[in-house]
Amino acid sequence: MTLTRTLIAASLLLATPALAQGDTPHIATKAGRHALIVDGAPFLILGGQVNNSSNYAAPLAKVWPVLDRIGANTVEAPIAWEQLEPQEGKFDFSFVQTLLDEARKHDKRIVLLWFGAWKNTGLSYTPDWVKLDNRRFPRMKTKDGQDHGVLSPHGAATLAADKRAYLALMTYIRDHDAQNTVILVQPENEVGSYKNPRDYSPAAQKLFDGPVPATLTKALQKPGGTWTTVFGDTADRAFNTWHTARYIEALASAGKAIKPLPMYVNAALGDPFGKPDPQALSSGGPQGDVIDIWKAAAPSIDFAAPDIYDRASRNVFKHLDLYTRPDNALMVPEIGNAAEYARYFWAALGRGAIGFAPFGMDDTGYYNYPLGAKRLDDATLDAFAQKYRALASAPWAKIAFDHPVWGAAKPDDGAPVSTTMGDWTITASFGQWQFGQRNWFPKADLPAWATEPTGGAVVAQVSANEFLFTGDHVRLNFAASQGSAPGGMIVKVEEGHFDKDVWIMDRIWNGDQTDYGLNLIDQPVWIKVTMGRYR
Ligand code: DGJ
Repeated sequence: MTLTRTLIAASLLLATPALAQGDTPHIATKAGRHALIVDGAPFLILGGQVNNSSNYAAPLAKVWPVLDRIGANTVEAPIAWEQLEPQEGKFDFSFVQTLLDEARKHDKRIVLLWFGAWKNTGLSYTPDWVKLDNRRFPRMKTKDGQDHGVLSPHGAATLAADKRAYLALMTYIRDHDAQNTVILVQPENEVGSYKNPRDYSPAAQKLFDGPVPATLTKALQKPGGTWTTVFGDTADRAFNTWHTARYIEALASAGKAIKPLPMYVNAALGDPFGKPDPQALSSGGPQGDVIDIWKAAAPSIDFAAPDIYDRASRNVFKHLDLYTRPDNALMVPEIGNAAEYARYFWAALGRGAIGFAPFGMDDTGYYNYPLGAKRLDDATLDAFAQKYRALASAPWAKIAFDHPVWGAAKPDDGAPVSTTMGDWTITASFGQWQFGQRNWFPKADLPAWATEPTGGAVVAQVSANEFLFTGDHVRLNFAASQGSAPGGMIVKVEEGHFDKDVWIMDRIWNGDQTDYGLNLIDQPVWIKVTMGRYR
């Protein structure tokens, strides 16, 4: 077989300026696109988050086989305050060290999840000496003066103690992780409060009756006033969002002073359409409609991120859109681990996502269905593994940082999805055999995947007329866009692979392989399409 080295593509792919090796991981942004830089180069998190109680040495052994099976390069793992500081001032870093050692042995990077004052809003991960001392570490008050099961963001002692523990963790990472096995940190987990939009204690009420900080009104370009005059009926939630974000800013800014790792916050999501209900939502969390408040309150937080447990494609696409911003790198730190969620990997990458991680990826025997999978059977694992292996074989993070990208996942109604990139329109359609058009064979049975929530692709426009893509259970058609000059056509379709950053053509697709669109079913290989125009 003749291998053709495509130098044009190579030079395009190498357009990112080289960064010094050994740089602390960080988020880089250019032309509205983002990259997580690890070891001086863009890095795509092909992640898996472990179950909540897998943050001990014993269950960790049941994590690696699952992550290896799906081809993950990163583990997302909690460090609980109760485990780090079981007695006040006495720290136990043994699990942190075990995690570092084992991740390195299994060739994985780490996203550290700090389960401190808030974990899914609740205080269950705090040490007993915090849980049991409501005077020192006050819970929020409800409107009628009762304790709510969530710590108040206004508790000065809570912040001081939580921050001290978090900084002890960051110090340990600084001193024991010179090679940057830890690439990202999440201070707290799904913060906010359910069914009690804010703290109604007298001290919090006093703050609420005062002026909205000028930093916030200025950032939102709103006139000054009280929380009620500025935010109307969303005032309670805006107030709790600001104060929760300020609390986390205190952890993040001090943590970064120790080791400037990128830090992010994750959101328990509500309905992305319509008016959010502050009673039902985790009020205070970084949901899509309050990202601007978070940006103003917590400038040390690199990005806010959606935890996706909503199966409806319309909602998923909207959530992804809300977190895709020039000032916010998209990452999906949690998504249900049922097979149908795997197709959203393509939708996330197509919006420039820097990472993706299904939740509950270990073999400890716990399954969070109906949010995720009933079982991690082979079909479920393969749905993630196939995609991760394809992406691991390409310098995707670098390509996506340097070039426009687009992705499609099969919507619930199975309808085709298309976009226009420059002079070319790309259409992704689903549920077809590889050969021919459906209407030519009205009596032929449909493929199994026609009725399954599976299928998608991701495309990069590497030059005006060149595209790279991969995907599964999808047909892609490339055509001249409406109104563009006549004579537009596909000139060449190559299947290939990457040798580091260099595209290597393995064969040219033609005939049946191109006559009916470019079909990728259960083998997500890499394809390069060159478009052109005859005269
Ligand atoms: C979202 C949380 O962030 C996770 O820790 C976990 O509780 C899942 N929900 C559900 O299992």
